[in-house]
Amino acid sequence: QPDPRPQEDTVKYEVVDGVAWVYFNRPDKRNCMSPKLNRQMKIVIEDLEFRDDVQVLVLTGEGSAWSAGMDLLEYFRMAEQEGLHAIRSNQREAYSWWERLRWFEKPTVAMINGWCFGGAYGPLFACDLAYCSDDAQFGLSEINWAILPGGGASKVAAELLPFRDAMYHAMMGENLTGPEAAKLRMVNESLPADKLKERVLEVCEVLKKKDSQALRATKWAMRRVTEMTYDNAEDYLIRAQEALNQFGGLESRKEATRQFLDAKTFKPGLGAFDK
Ligand code: ACO
Repeated sequence: QPDPRPQEDTVKYEVVDGVAWVYFNRPDKRNCMSPKLNRQMKIVIEDLEFRDDVQVLVLTGEGSAWSAGMDLLEYFRMAEQEGLHAIRSNQREAYSWWERLRWFEKPTVAMINGWCFGGAYGPLFACDLAYCSDDAQFGLSEINWAILPGGGASKVAAELLPFRDAMYHAMMGENLTGPEAAKLRMVNESLPADKLKERVLEVCEVLKKKDSQALRATKWAMRRVTEMTYDNAEDYLIRAQEALNQFGGLESRKEATRQFLDAKTFKPGLGAFDK
């Protein structure tokens, strides 16, 4: 049966001390992504992006799953019964919020509390940093039900994993545990479930102290340069820094330099300057 709840209930969020905690919120369906959830995520993410009280976004899941991937009923079967227009519309809605998240103006952290399958690799990759619990499980289960890892999932595996590991992961349909995912660098760290939020909060606290415009320029640069030649990257980075200067970058840098060279109140090698 389709999820009887309204669109809004499929995503939950709260903003606490500068951190927006966004939840996939279909725990009884292991947070699989239905068209309603995808539509709602786009709305929530866009609402949070320019709020002054939001400095970092954390994406996590309610219940035992982060997200069990695409909804096999609502995203696939029902759309296929309706026809190509419904299939394309579902794809666009899903891909568009992952894209918005990939280029979100502020730092994003995936906090993977449980199952993470297939289509969920899209939002996983979209987040800048990723922390999971030791009992999380990651899988490209597509091969187990006779499809290929679409919706970017193959690309994500190829980007995040070494070639042989990516190939094995995609072809075998076996899951990685949290520690295995950390060892393969799919996530920054795997932690015991009861320590996960604490660690993510620590990371958020550090990010909150950085200059927000410089963070945005940095995260976008890191994603862009992966697809550039060295020369193009050098050139892009000069231009990106000059663009950052239009957003107060020059003043921030002058003040940070003053605190280091003149006031001697901070050392850039040891932490952020006092904003
Ligand atoms: N699509 C639709 N419904 C789902 C999905 C999904 N991806 N995942 C879970 N559900 C539903 C189940 O049908 C079940 O519904 P019901 O209560 O109406 O019967 C409910 O969520 C709970 O699922 P269970 O299987 O009972 O939960 P369990 O904790 O035992 O297992 C697990 C969790 C392993 C995640 C299992 O649900 C599963 O294998 N789900 C599918 C994972 C997957 O392969 N996703 C697709 C990836 S490919 C892609 O995204 C393109």
